[in-house]
Amino acid sequence: MNFNKRTHNCGELNLSAVGETITLNGWVAKKRDLGGILFIDLRDRYGITQLKINPDNKNLYDSGIKLGNEFVISATGKVIKRESINKYLPTGEIEIEVTNFEILNESETPPFNVEEDVKASDDLRLQYRYLDMRRHTLTDNLILRNNVYHIVHEYFKNFGFLEIETPILMKSTPEGARDYLVPSRVHKGKFYALPQSPQTYKQILMVAGLDKYVQICKCFRDEDLRADRQPEFTQIDLEMSFVTQEDIFQISEGFFRQVWKEIMNIDIPTPFRIMTYNDAIQTYGSDKPDLRIKGEMKIHTITESLLNSGFKVFDDVITSKGTIAAIKLEKQEVTRKSIDGITDFVKKLGLGGIAYIKIAKDGAVTSPIQKFLGEEKIKEIISNLQAEPGDTIFILSGDTKKVYPALGNLRLKLAEDFKLIDESKYEFLWIIDFPLFHYEEEENRYVGEHHIFTMPKDEFLRLLDSTSREEIESIRANCYDLVLNGTELGSGSIRIHKPGIQKKVFNIIGLTDEEAKEKFGFLLEAFQYGAPPHGGVAFGFDRLVAILCGLKSIRDVIAFPKSVSASSLMDNCPNIVEDKQLKELGISITKS
Ligand code: AMO
Repeated sequence: MNFNKRTHNCGELNLSAVGETITLNGWVAKKRDLGGILFIDLRDRYGITQLKINPDNKNLYDSGIKLGNEFVISATGKVIKRESINKYLPTGEIEIEVTNFEILNESETPPFNVEEDVKASDDLRLQYRYLDMRRHTLTDNLILRNNVYHIVHEYFKNFGFLEIETPILMKSTPEGARDYLVPSRVHKGKFYALPQSPQTYKQILMVAGLDKYVQICKCFRDEDLRADRQPEFTQIDLEMSFVTQEDIFQISEGFFRQVWKEIMNIDIPTPFRIMTYNDAIQTYGSDKPDLRIKGEMKIHTITESLLNSGFKVFDDVITSKGTIAAIKLEKQEVTRKSIDGITDFVKKLGLGGIAYIKIAKDGAVTSPIQKFLGEEKIKEIISNLQAEPGDTIFILSGDTKKVYPALGNLRLKLAEDFKLIDESKYEFLWIIDFPLFHYEEEENRYVGEHHIFTMPKDEFLRLLDSTSREEIESIRANCYDLVLNGTELGSGSIRIHKPGIQKKVFNIIGLTDEEAKEKFGFLLEAFQYGAPPHGGVAFGFDRLVAILCGLKSIRDVIAFPKSVSASSLMDNCPNIVEDKQLKELGISITKS
């Protein structure tokens, strides 16, 4: 095709180019006729430049008026100074006096207006993702994502890491989320799984002696979606041999420092804060606490001070080994309506109700539990939490496993409702010493809290032979999460490298030796041939980019994300396949 190729892009021209004859190629973003003069905003991925067509060039004007939104054109003209400057556009001081343009392609009327302040529904935007991606907001996210890719490659290369690809078709090892399965044609009735992560491969790379591995890799998990969860997502995956947890923290922190410096021009302080899992749960009610909340709003456990209070609700909780804990909301106007909202909120979390102590600005105290506890106890709680006039204390009591997470959720709700989150902050935090297992009541068995390749801490190794639930649940692991602003950004551990320990862990989660051999025999076998001590971590790449872009949803940093029902609305997938394909695979579909 013969057309006038661009001499510049739509984002780069400014006053220094005035007088030059240039050609731009791009999409018609907007067209308006102001007093007989035609103005067109021409868009490409770099920016927008205003074109101007004067009515004295009648032919040109008549063709210009017929241009529709999203037509692709090549326009040639002279750069001139603009009369009314648009200070919001980098090209806002100039415009192009068009001498000639040609239409390179027409466009149907688009299903929605491609504008930064887009009004179309999420589904429509996903269906026409290529139109949505013409918006600079999305383009800029993808450019930032690309810049982080480069930092990953460069940073880890400088430390001698090797980028090694691992298979996409692998063995199904159903621990963790549900696998996506791929039927084999050659081996009818057998299946590959798409990797939930390259965990076992990266450990085997360590056995192979490739002591520093990094990969930006795709992972696939068939699980319920949320704003920060996609069925296929990207990880920055690392593994190293002969390292301790501290080495992994150090290399990771250096990476995040470089990312924040290069992308945001911010020096983030290192080393990052470290908190144990137990402290995080008891102080923030979450293993991914958001530390940006003004006043911190820590949880105070007040069970001890309420022993023998005479208030039946609390006495019962204490008798049944439960917990009473409280948080303080500082200096906020708490209305009856907000208390009702909070009560509903905690009820939905499975707790009977919430008690509160409200201290008015003049120091007057109101509390529905004062008549049960008496003035003295209320004063004790107030002093325990160092509450002052204007503050409100919220108290929850019940099963310990419910009380802390509920207060953690309430903390986040209050922070959001009362706008207490300092959005300008980046609060990195390592959470360490996770439990190795938790008991899954529904399945009636233990499951790995992180994953089943995680090394127990030395002092807990002996408990791998225990049969007591309390002891097994008390085992702590060399396992860590990186949390940023309340998001789990990454997770990792020092791994088990001894087959004997690995077998015991498999047994605790209910795998017999035979089952362990069938599912993970390759790993156990590899461990028999000189597996070095090793450990690693994986960071959620999409979550990282979303935080850098100031976004809550990872969808906006992925070119082709799936909808909430795990579908691709643009190409309509998953879809029904031909009978012939099913037959080749030996599969028949039963209608449920
Ligand atoms: P984990 O399962 O914790 O660990 O995953 C590591 C990080 O990946 C991100 N992440 C996700 N991001 C988007 N959508 C999802 N569905 C999703 N699931 C996880 C999170 C998370 O912290 N193999 C181990 C890592 C290791 O031990 O080295 C693993 O995959 O940010």
